[in-house]
Amino acid sequence: MVDTANRSADTDPGLVGAVEHDIREDAFPIKGWDHVKYYVGNARQAAHYYSTAFGMTLFAYRGPEQGYREHAEYALKSGGVVFVLAGGTTADSAASEHYARHGDGVIEVALEVPDVDKNYAHAIKQGAIAVEEPHDLTDEHGTIRRAVIGTYGETRNVLIDRSKYTGPFLPGFVAADPMVAPPEKRFFQAIDHIVGNVELGRMREWVEYYERVMGFTNIVEFVEDAIATEYSALMSKVVANGTRKIKFPINEPAVGKKKSQIDEYLEFYGGPGVQHIALATSDILAAVDAMRARGVEFLEAPDAYYEDPEMRERIGTVRVPIEELQKRRVLVDRDEDGYMLQIFTKPQQDRPTMFYEIIERHGSLSFGKGNFKALFEALEKEQAKRGNL
Ligand SMILES: [Fe+2]
Repeated sequence: MVDTANRSADTDPGLVGAVEHDIREDAFPIKGWDHVKYYVGNARQAAHYYSTAFGMTLFAYRGPEQGYREHAEYALKSGGVVFVLAGGTTADSAASEHYARHGDGVIEVALEVPDVDKNYAHAIKQGAIAVEEPHDLTDEHGTIRRAVIGTYGETRNVLIDRSKYTGPFLPGFVAADPMVAPPEKRFFQAIDHIVGNVELGRMREWVEYYERVMGFTNIVEFVEDAIATEYSALMSKVVANGTRKIKFPINEPAVGKKKSQIDEYLEFYGGPGVQHIALATSDILAAVDAMRARGVEFLEAPDAYYEDPEMRERIGTVRVPIEELQKRRVLVDRDEDGYMLQIFTKPQQDRPTMFYEIIERHGSLSFGKGNFKALFEALEKEQAKRGNL
């Protein structure tokens, strides 16, 4: 069940850097993340991968057997994180066409809101891209109210009110048994942030879009842009809602030492789209050990990263010895509010496009800008292996 009560309990606000905020004051109130929907080449096999490698649990399904002839859709969860993997059953299914252009990728980022019509009306008045007007979806378990607005590329933001629905997931979905036995302890339990890559010169435009349409604010990070840009070859700004639960960093390519990884993404994805999803965990060491043992590959920071005295000085004491982080190649960053531990997977599909971040926050609201240099040196090594530098 994905009822709100369960999901809030699963999503410790400290875990995702949320702050106290009354959403009733917002022009565009948001309760939280609802789910992320992907179009993939083979949903059944992708569902198996996310079950085995990411420790997620299949809980609902909808497909031809339920009268949905175009797609097979698998809904999986880990705590409050819900992914829906949709694959086309024919060459002209929406998922098949999207897959042909982009490879596996995110099509919808769905947010749970208390009043879909109110949010949609506000967004449209503010110039949002209209995709689907508010409408009801009903089955024997009740009614979901849904509307859709566009964002970068073909990505969409879905607004969902599930307060009058008691079914396993969404109308048409039936409860499904796990594909494999779920792990004893889940690897992650909440979405921390979802990052988009957009074309050169378009970042500011999309930041302003979220500010205007959803009332988000730009969170400022105090890092020298020149340093970040030289090594990462990207520019990044973060917009967040009032509670800071919903955070959308947006990247654009910049001129750096090497070809920008954002350019590589745009080329291989065929335009803007979701670059990575950060998954919050309360035990990054256990999560990384478990995921590695199941075949997930992570970017490996060099030993020099951990042995740099300047870095050790800046980081100070964290909950485990630095050697434990070094063994697993977990990165660490600190700001005035605390610290956080993070690690990035390699791309999780054939194209060098989408990847994941595992993050464990201890007060810090940062996104790891302090790790740009170390991280992107490691990223460049991978890019060079693919011949795209
Ligand atoms: Fe991130």
